[in-house]
Amino acid sequence: MSDIYDVIIIGGGPGGYNCAIRAGQLGLKVACIETRKTLGGTCLNVGCIPSKALLHATELYETATNDFEAMGMKASVEFDIPEMIKAKQKTVDGLTSGIEFLFKKNNVDHIRGFGKIVGEGKVEVDGKLYETKNIVIATGSEVATLPNIDIDEKQIVSSTGALELQKVPGKMIVIGGGVIGLELGSVWRRLGAEVTVVEFLDTILPGSDGEIQKQALRTLKKQKMKFELGRKVTAVEKTKSGLTVKTEASAGGKEKDLEADVVLVCIGRRPFTKDLGLDVLKVATDKRGFIETDHFKTTANNVFAIGDCTTGPMLAHKAEEEGVAAAEIIAGKAGHVNYGVIPGVVYTSPEIASVGKTEEELKAAGIPYKKGKFPFTANSRARCNHETDGFAKILAHAETDEILGAHIIGALAGDLIHEVCVAMEFGAASEDIARTCHAHPTVSEAVRQAAMDVENWAMQM
Ligand code: FAD
Ligand code: NAI
Repeated sequence: MSDIYDVIIIGGGPGGYNCAIRAGQLGLKVACIETRKTLGGTCLNVGCIPSKALLHATELYETATNDFEAMGMKASVEFDIPEMIKAKQKTVDGLTSGIEFLFKKNNVDHIRGFGKIVGEGKVEVDGKLYETKNIVIATGSEVATLPNIDIDEKQIVSSTGALELQKVPGKMIVIGGGVIGLELGSVWRRLGAEVTVVEFLDTILPGSDGEIQKQALRTLKKQKMKFELGRKVTAVEKTKSGLTVKTEASAGGKEKDLEADVVLVCIGRRPFTKDLGLDVLKVATDKRGFIETDHFKTTANNVFAIGDCTTGPMLAHKAEEEGVAAAEIIAGKAGHVNYGVIPGVVYTSPEIASVGKTEEELKAAGIPYKKGKFPFTANSRARCNHETDGFAKILAHAETDEILGAHIIGALAGDLIHEVCVAMEFGAASEDIARTCHAHPTVSEAVRQAAMDVENWAMQM
């Protein structure tokens, strides 16, 4: 009996490794299977972490080259791409090996190889059978591709290849104006590439609050990122001098060819459950391949699923929350995720952060709301820092004043949003933030001012 695990987790990304660690902490006998050489999944190896390392380095470069003069400084800064990529890798390696350490500390067995479900409570890894009372599927996602476009990770790259380019492309075409397109497009633009984003819809960042979309587009255009909105890519052809990207208007007609040295395909990601053996236990998936769950339970007994391979936002912290909750449920506790309070951050400059409902969602749901808004130009710290682009916006229920959403575009937005997340978790009203003393001068005063403006806005109605 002692050889039977309480839980085997397939996949060692943010969902899987957090689930494994929590299970270990709760005294369960746990193993985590990972097919990559290193733990950490997409996020640590080829996602959140390497992209943020490059975003940070290139933002510093851009600040030094563009903004120092206005602050009375002069700098001559050079970059060395292979060294920058190496530094990024060092950060990744440090963090992935940190998870190995945490596994040991929390008694998690790390099984290397590809896991396959072969029966109830049975998982096979490269020919070896393991038995378990519970299985957690945390196999994550993979890059979605376009028909007729072959990603070679050199000239036509996904995010993975875009994190490894060894020189700055002269012209880069980004297919998809979502999160990856704007983040990695920013990295290469800051280093000198002419970046054009081709987006199928009439807006970037679909699903975001409308005012945020408009402001983000304005700001990125000001930074000389180019946009072809309402346009789809039909083919990418290799030529002697580079690549020709064939596009047409999304509504049909109006063809246009764009030249590129590198094309980045980032039109979304899809769940990865290939060769996993879902059919063996009849684990149901939806039309798009996401594993169907109810409180992390799949349609098979004692089989759970978490993270990118299930529905919901494809975010590391969402996967992490689900991993912890699933481990707690398996241990007989009350694991829970509040899906209404999952922040999203786009790490462009300035950052874009949101939580809760957008104005458009509130209108569509017929929920009466009031809003407060405050521009960063009027925030003293933002002015000191020469970071005055953007605004903070808070949406609250028209009758109860309960905070329903917040949308911030501006310096440090990714950190500022958490004040609102905590408030929402406590069911706070916008007046609670408005009445909380905020240190001066900080950019977080912009959030407080937006909360104070909610009442002004309501009075004008
Ligand atoms: P994954 O991280 O994909 O992990 C799944 C793991 O399972 C993989 O390591 C895979 O090798 C392994 N696996 C799959 N099948 C098997 C099998 N059968 N046997 C063994 N192992 C298997 N999210 C954020 O919140 N913030 C960000 O800043 C951010 N930046 C991103 C930047 C980029 C470029 C990309 C691509 C993604 C980014 N994301 C970000 C999204 C984030 O990476 C994912 O939401 C997160 O990694 C999902 O975690 P997961 O554990 O569900 O899956
Ligand atoms: P995305 O879903 O954010 O954006 C894809 C974009 O491509 C959309 O705007 C869509 O309209 C567009 N598109 C789709 N088909 C197209 C076509 N044929 N031609 C032109 N445009 C087309 O997906 P993305 O950027 O690939 O990111 C994948 C996932 O990774 C996201 O779900 C995101 O949550 C996660 N991620 C999160 C980050 C963060 O939290 N900061 C950073 C990077 C990725």
